[in-house]
Amino acid sequence: MKFQKRGRTAILLSGRGSNFKAIYKKSIKDRSWFDIVLVISNRKNAGGLQLARRYGIKSVFISPRDFKNSDEYEKSMISLLNEERVDLVCLAGFMKILSPLFINEFKNRIMNIHPSLLPAFPGLNAQKQALEYGVKVSGCTVHFVDTGIDSGPVILQKAVLTDKNDDEESLSEKILKYEHEIYPEAVSLWFEGRLKISGRKVIISK
Ligand code: GRF
Repeated sequence: MKFQKRGRTAILLSGRGSNFKAIYKKSIKDRSWFDIVLVISNRKNAGGLQLARRYGIKSVFISPRDFKNSDEYEKSMISLLNEERVDLVCLAGFMKILSPLFINEFKNRIMNIHPSLLPAFPGLNAQKQALEYGVKVSGCTVHFVDTGIDSGPVILQKAVLTDKNDDEESLSEKILKYEHEIYPEAVSLWFEGRLKISGRKVIISK
């Protein structure tokens, strides 16, 4: 899909929002193809919400506790995202698993960033899992979201060498630097109409 007008993206987050920040910086660059029009957090004190306010982006805290079940919670997010005519949803440290209800509403229009080279080390604490396994190379992955855990088609990856002195913090820091490169890049490619999903593969056109 190639956009005739500026694309509209939303960020779902739960924490400090450094990936959101990186995507935002890309969006305000000359010749970018998209704007971030909405930030949603499931945590009231998420740093990412404060950042959004600072950038003048509509930001909303939606507490899962205010809904009788997760379907109702997801439906409230879906309405908000549709009201804002969001083309692409970016998960950026959103610490809540989304059900098929949400995923199918935005089929092939949800991206996520994960701090490992998928399919290695899906799920929580990927950097710790990598260190405990003893891998010499780890990294990060931007992928489309399907109904599994970190299992959708891979868009971009960047590798990072581990060092014998690395702990979870130092490895996370090294990986994060690359997250901030590949996530904005993937979002940009999508809005330029250069990503095509073919089965498990994502084909990037020139
Ligand atoms: C990142 O490490 C990302 O890979 C993972 O959650 C973390 C979010 O960090 N999914 P931030 O809130 O974007 O700084």
